[in-house]
This record gives sequence, structure tokens and C-alpha cells, in this order.
Amino acid sequence: MCGIVGYIGKKEAYPIVLEGLKRLEYRGYDSAGIALYDGKNLKLSKTKGKVSDLEKKINQEIPTNGSVGIGHTRWATHGIPNDINSHPHYSNSGDLVIIHNGIIENYASIKKELEKRGYTFSSDTDTEVLINLIEDVKKNENLKLGKAVQIALNQVVGAYAIAVFDKNKPDEIVVAKLGSPLAIGVGDDEFFIASDATPFLEYTKKAIYLEDEEMAIVRLNKEIKIRKIKDDSLVDPYIQELQLNLEQIVKGGYDHFMLKEIHEQPEAIKDTYRGRLLVKEGLIRMAGIDDNLEKFLNANRIIVIACGTSWHAGLVAEYIFEDLARIPVEVEYASEFRYRNPVITEKDVVIAISQSGETADTLAAIKLAKSKGAFVFGLCNVVGSSIARETHAGAYTHAGPEIGVASTKAFTTQITVLTLIALKLAKVKGTISKPEFQHHLQELELIPGKVEKALLQDEHIKTVASIYKDAKNCLYLGRGFNFPVALEGALKLKEISYIHAEGYPAAEMKHGPIALIDEHMPVFVIATKKGHYEKVVSNIQEIKSRKGKIIGIVTEGDIDVKELADHVIEVPETLESLSPLLTTIPLQLLSYHIAVMLNRNVDQPRNLAKSVTVE
Ligand code: F6R
Repeated sequence: MCGIVGYIGKKEAYPIVLEGLKRLEYRGYDSAGIALYDGKNLKLSKTKGKVSDLEKKINQEIPTNGSVGIGHTRWATHGIPNDINSHPHYSNSGDLVIIHNGIIENYASIKKELEKRGYTFSSDTDTEVLINLIEDVKKNENLKLGKAVQIALNQVVGAYAIAVFDKNKPDEIVVAKLGSPLAIGVGDDEFFIASDATPFLEYTKKAIYLEDEEMAIVRLNKEIKIRKIKDDSLVDPYIQELQLNLEQIVKGGYDHFMLKEIHEQPEAIKDTYRGRLLVKEGLIRMAGIDDNLEKFLNANRIIVIACGTSWHAGLVAEYIFEDLARIPVEVEYASEFRYRNPVITEKDVVIAISQSGETADTLAAIKLAKSKGAFVFGLCNVVGSSIARETHAGAYTHAGPEIGVASTKAFTTQITVLTLIALKLAKVKGTISKPEFQHHLQELELIPGKVEKALLQDEHIKTVASIYKDAKNCLYLGRGFNFPVALEGALKLKEISYIHAEGYPAAEMKHGPIALIDEHMPVFVIATKKGHYEKVVSNIQEIKSRKGKIIGIVTEGDIDVKELADHVIEVPETLESLSPLLTTIPLQLLSYHIAVMLNRNVDQPRNLAKSVTVE
């Protein structure tokens, strides 16, 4: 978490760094700060709150001129969000300044040592310890900044993406990475530094993504030098051409990124299956699977590892893989898997799902699975992300940037890719008949149009949202393929409206949660025509007889649920295995509208961040 931005060149740094921080606010928004160097003075302004708060304050504190600048938007780990704990942090001499995304785990022992040597600390952060360690090494050994950073980093344990500036050497910024992402934009005689490439898209399409344990000195008028932090060996810079466009990262007329991303789903799903789903040829083509088919076919089981919404997509995959391809699947929270000594063998295939490709727990779980000999397949949205690079093979979802903190199009595109993989394996294994396979391909191709139709219910969904916006608790129920959708619906509501919500398999209700039901409890029930419909209708009866309010997510033309429910929201008919791609849409919109009606910060809900790069 946390976003870092830097600029060194001939332009004014402030607008570039400020705008960059706004683009990276999805990574954290507890506090923000900027340091600028104007050719003479190093100036710094920082504040608790969002980048917009910094923007209001900075002009009263410092002149914002200068062509070198670094900035930070924070998701607090060490030290509460307040002005002092905000980044950038000065060293004791005031000569050095740092921004940091990550955690220095052994900061307490380093701090003690530094205190013994007379260093003082104004903040509670691990970052202030790191900059003073760098200063200490630099002074004691009379080193240049780059060397001092390298020696200091070899003493720390943890994760970091850092940028360090020394006002006595103002033509360079030193950056380094371990575990947190760091991109360098290469312009004409100028460099950009950022947690991802979005802050410098309009200035350059050339980017270098540092690998773990690499550092670089970006120096004006000089070629960039990248070194391994451990052994000092030089690394050839690999400059990539960015495929991202500016239009993809702006709201484009929508009030919120989340709403834009909900509405982008028809196109995103098409982009996901484009070139892979070949209906006429009766084929699914996916290089990552085609090249590793034997691994999947010989697998004893598939283990899915993920967190949050991606974990919910993994649960949908469990139903789809087992139903279509008859391969046993286990779905694991990455954070649990990594610490519980799981039994993994070389015959296991692990699918790691992550929108950002940076989630620390998922990354650690991948490393563990690899160390035990499993084949690890990554399913990421962010191209070139750490997880995409750490896995043996993989597939991208091609959903385009997801900026709203609440995941929407990532979920449906993950399910789309997972469905393609399951169908492909089912075909090769012969667990699906030819006509059935073809029918699935045809139906999958129709999904974007059906998502569009589901989106047309928006006004009706808004009305339903206005009725239930003041609920204190909500229950979400679903069965089979739609049980994970119930979990996802509840998560969406919790995270952006702060209303407590629980997702349950519909039939589990009578084993406990039914005790919660009274006239104040809205229950969102997914009751599609083909999915254990009669059983779910019975569950609805049970809720009704206890006076619960029922909102049914039903197939177009439904009669039975309509008679029982207080409200229904229709989605088009499709195959049951594909229904999560449709039933999730009204639940996303419901959460969105409720959150807007409650005046919540939809795109940046409290306490959350888009990339969870700490464990
Ligand atoms: C919920 C949400 C989170 C993420 C989770 C995993 O809307 O966004 O639960 O799904 O933090 O993130 P990724 O997929 O980036 O690994």
C-alpha cells in the first residue's frame, strides 16, 4: 500500500507529483506529502488526510517551484495517520529526504542503535528510522548516497519501494525495491518514479519496472544505472513500451470510478475473451494453458490462492472446474495458506488470482507453493505486476485499470478467464460433450450483451437501494455457483457503505443465521431459475414466515419468487455456471447506490487500499 511519486528533470515537479499522487490515491489515502527542491532549498509539506487536503495546505506552507520533487500518499502501518507520521521524512541533518511504501520489520532494533548514537525521531514510523540509518552509513563511511542506500538496505528486513533525495547531490534520486512495486518513467532528459505507470502516462510511454532487490540511480544527463542491492552487480535496464492510455484512468463522465467500472463490464468481459473464445471454430485458445496442458491434465488437484474478491472468484471457479472438468479444487485464503504448513506436492497446480498482482499474502503463498514444487499459474489484471512475474505461467484478465477500491470488473473478468480454462480442460479431458461445449461457448459469447441488459435495471435498483439504505445488517444468500456471489455481494456492501452484511449458502441459514431474521433484516436472495430454484424458494418461505424483507435476484420472467419477495431484480437467463457473471451486477449497483445515498467515499472507503502490499 502507499503510493510514491517522484520527478527529476526540467519541468516544474509540483504539478506532476501532485497529479501523480491523485492517480495513486487508490493505494492509500490516510495522509499525503510532497518534498520539492528548487535549486537551493529543500522544502516539505505534509498533512493527515487526502491529496486534496495537501493541495489546499501546501501553498500556505512552501513555495511550490522546483524541478525535483517526491511525494507520497499513505496507508498507515507504523504510526497513526497524522501530520508527523506522513511522508516524506527528513533525516536528522535535514539533508536527506525519503518516501517509502512497505514495512521495515527490524526498525525497532535499528532505531535503538541509532538513538544510542544520538539520533532523534519525531515520528513513529519505520521510514524515519530507515532514512537516518542511510544518513548514518553515509556519514560514517563518507559515502555517496547510492552506496549508503545500498549498505543500509542490506541491513533491513522487510519490504520497500523507496525514493531518496540528497540536497547536496541534487541531480539524482536513488530508488530501490523489494516486495513493493516501483516503475521508472524514462523521458527526454527527465525521469519519473512511481508505484505504477499512471502518474507519467502523458509524459512518456517508456518504463522500467525494477525487480525485487534492485536499486537504481536516476541522474540527469546520465544513463540509468540499475544494480542488485545484495551483490552490487549491474543489471541491463529493460525499457518497456506502455500500452496504457490516459482515457483508461479518468472517470470519463461518471461520478465515481466504481460506477464507471461497473458499466465497463460488458466491454471488459469481451476484452477478456477476445482471441481466446473462438466460437465458430469451436475452440478455446490460451497460450498459458496450451503450453502447460500436461501440468493441468496430470494435476491431482488445483489449489486456488487469493484474497478478498479474488478469493470469491476462486470459489466460483471451484464450482465450475469440478462441474465441467471434474478436477478437484481447493480454494484457500492466501494469508492462511502461507502460514499453515499446507501439504503441497509436485502434482499440484496452484492458480493464484489477483487483480493488482501485488497482494503480499498471495505473493508469499505463491513463493511457498513454488518452493514445494507445485506449478503456479497466475491470473492477474495488472500487466507486469509482481505476481505475473513470480508465477510459472499465467493469463491476464485484460479488464483495463481498476481504480475504485471496491473490485467489480476484476471479479467478472476473473470468472470469465477461469470459465475459459475450465471449459478448455473439460474438452481435452472429455468430461463435456461436444454439443455441450459448443453451447457453453455460445452462451459465454452472449454474456456481455446480457450484462448490458442487467445494467438497464439501474433505476429500479436505485429505488430498492433507497428503501434499504438505513439497514443496520443485511444477509445475502445464494446456492451452488451463486453462493460465492452472495459472499461477494455482502463484501461489496460492507466495504463501501459500512453496513454490516453476511453472505451465506442459502441452506445454511437454518443452522444459525435464521435467528437474526426479523422485520428489520433485508435478505438478498439469489434465486436463478436453474440453480436449486425450488430449494431456494423454500428458503425464501422460511425468511418470509419470520417477517424478513426479501429482495430476490431472479431470472427474467420469474413468477414464484416474485409472489413471495418484497422486491425482485431480474437478470437475463443463461447457463447456471455462467449466472454469477449476471447476478453479481445488481448487487454491485445496490451497494454503490446505498453508499452514495449514505454519502460514503465510494472510490476510497475508509481504512482500505487497492493494493494490499503488507501482510
Ligand atoms: C474488495 C477488494 C479486495 C481485493 C483483495 C485482493 O472489493 O478489492 O478484497 O479483492 O484485496 O486484491 P487483489 O485481487 O489485487 O489481490
